[in-house]
Amino acid sequence: MTTLTVTGLNKTYTLRSGLQFSRLQAVKDVDLELSAGRTVALVGQSGSGKSTIAKILAQLEKPTSGTIMLDGAPIGTRGRALAHYRDHVQMVFQDPFASLNPFHTIGHHLERPLLLHGKATRATLRAKVCELLERVNLTPTDSFIERRPHELSGGQRQRVAIARALAPEPTVLIADEPVSMLDVSIRLGVLNLLARLQREENLAMLYITHDLATARHFSDEILVMYRGEVVERGPADQVILDPQAEFTKQLLVAAPEPGNNPRFLAEARRRGVPMPDHLAPAEETS
Ligand SMILES: Nc1ncnc2c1ncn2[C@@H]1O[C@H](COP(=O)(O)OP(=O)(O)O)[C@@H](O)[C@H]1O
Ligand SMILES: [Mg+2]
Repeated sequence: MTTLTVTGLNKTYTLRSGLQFSRLQAVKDVDLELSAGRTVALVGQSGSGKSTIAKILAQLEKPTSGTIMLDGAPIGTRGRALAHYRDHVQMVFQDPFASLNPFHTIGHHLERPLLLHGKATRATLRAKVCELLERVNLTPTDSFIERRPHELSGGQRQRVAIARALAPEPTVLIADEPVSMLDVSIRLGVLNLLARLQREENLAMLYITHDLATARHFSDEILVMYRGEVVERGPADQVILDPQAEFTKQLLVAAPEPGNNPRFLAEARRRGVPMPDHLAPAEETS
């Protein structure tokens, strides 16, 4: 049973403007645990540090401090140990345009990780690619292999990105706002796909979103972030139905889907809880 444990994670960026330097603490003392078969949602407004955590977990950024353990052992950051980590921990990014190479075919995008992670040989490659495409419902598979990213819709591209993340047969999947750049009408389909794969593969999943409604629906536990800190955490239903932190309450009031929690909203209205304008409901980017 895979577990990824993060303790006391901090990330400070040094910003330079002209001759002036300043420091920005993007992530403050975050603890979280991802375990097999469970989905944890990381929810917060834009700029709250969600992607920074995702990038640190994917080892695309180095933390300023904190420890990350995979199955009880400190993670390797170089050489074979890093390769082992990448076998286990994979990521799906927000923007399926930016994450696929426009010059390469869909087949190439899937062949590369299969070979790199030793999950296929030249002889089994084609069958393995087809199997991945089938798992993300891109069928008939032959019609996708030779195509390039621009010949696919946004939703299809994100499915390719998901298939690519599955190629190394990871045990942990980090999905950073995987549907926020997709057309509203197809978001649920992609989220349902992620949920099915998570169940089938018994994945430990981190689902990053600014949307509390899908966080509730698709996760077991919710962590609410505000300015780099986790201000509330708990079982998904509990956080939504009985929020404790002021910021969680504000998020719920500002939630784009009022159906999220009608009882809470009615109560908030009755009590005149103010809606902060930095939580513009229509926001879709990062
Ligand atoms: N490479 C970077 N250099 C400097 N500041 C950064 C960098 N990446 C992110 N930040 C800052 O860190 C904060 C958190 O960003 P991010 O993790 O992307 O938030 P979120 O994903 O929740 O929108 C923001 O204030 C952002 O501007
Ligand atoms: Mg982000």
